[in-house]
Amino acid sequence: MAKPKVLVTRRWPAAVEAQLAEKFDVVLSNNDVALRPCEFREAFKDFDAVLPTVTDKIGPDALELTNPRTKLLANYGVGFTHIDLPRANSHGMVVTNTPDVLSECTADLAMTLMLMAARRAGEGEREIRAGRWTGWRPTHLVGTKVSGKTLGIVGFGRIGQEVARRAHHGFGMDIIVHNRSRVAPDILARFNAKQADDLDALLPQCDFVSLHCPGGAENRHLINARRLDLMRPGAFLINTARGEVINECDLVQALTFDTIGGAALDVFDGEPNIAQPLLDSDRLVMLPHLGSATAEAREDMGFRVMNNLEAFFNGETPPDRVN
Ligand code: DGY
Repeated sequence: MAKPKVLVTRRWPAAVEAQLAEKFDVVLSNNDVALRPCEFREAFKDFDAVLPTVTDKIGPDALELTNPRTKLLANYGVGFTHIDLPRANSHGMVVTNTPDVLSECTADLAMTLMLMAARRAGEGEREIRAGRWTGWRPTHLVGTKVSGKTLGIVGFGRIGQEVARRAHHGFGMDIIVHNRSRVAPDILARFNAKQADDLDALLPQCDFVSLHCPGGAENRHLINARRLDLMRPGAFLINTARGEVINECDLVQALTFDTIGGAALDVFDGEPNIAQPLLDSDRLVMLPHLGSATAEAREDMGFRVMNNLEAFFNGETPPDRVN
């Protein structure tokens, strides 16, 4: 029987590409450039499965076609708000993602950002590299203590829980969570966490707020001027979720007028383009979407996609089906 024809849209870890090439009739990416909508439409006519990733926008224009050959979109990444699910459903396409395998590394990065923002690590590094450091002194780059403070976690799925584990058991932080559904008491008990009634109730209680909710239309600008005003004056906002969750203009205002202590972002609205006022803000730490960027997580994500592919082409329901 002919092997299923599979398209990978970007470069993947070498070990995963090698296994894909053994098991499938695979076309790998040579140039590592995101496909345009017209290229997706062509791909959907030719391939049994397309393996996109979080920077591939598969919106209405990419899915504007009849009778596609593609019946599986096996996404490399946990977030899938870049895929128009209703339209994929209308073509009978199954969509899968890669949960779990990146939770620990993304949580590690959220902690990195929290520490960097609170301890002014970005400012310090810039100072050394610019040759501006004049030596130790008691008032130099004084930051904010992290240990023992209160952390608000917005979205208490797998990544949010890994952040709670590190912050509570490693840094002795008190944990308050906001989640769209009630979190089971035994899960909260693992971190001695409380669930706030709503986001507005959580924000004024926290020294740090870390975002772990999905992106997309539902959570666009969840953090806006009104909610930034609800944060404590010295509090820090951390985002490793999706850029659109924060209204960046409102964040710039809050940083400019010192209504919060600072912020740290791994994700941006319209990335990789970064709004100039963000680049100009010294109170902001920024990383280029590195949440899952470890060799271990990136390989595991690829093998998780392979599990979904194999299940699908064996006639089973893929374990990470999202639609
Ligand atoms: C995801 O998987 O959704 C991340 O943003 C990339 O690791």
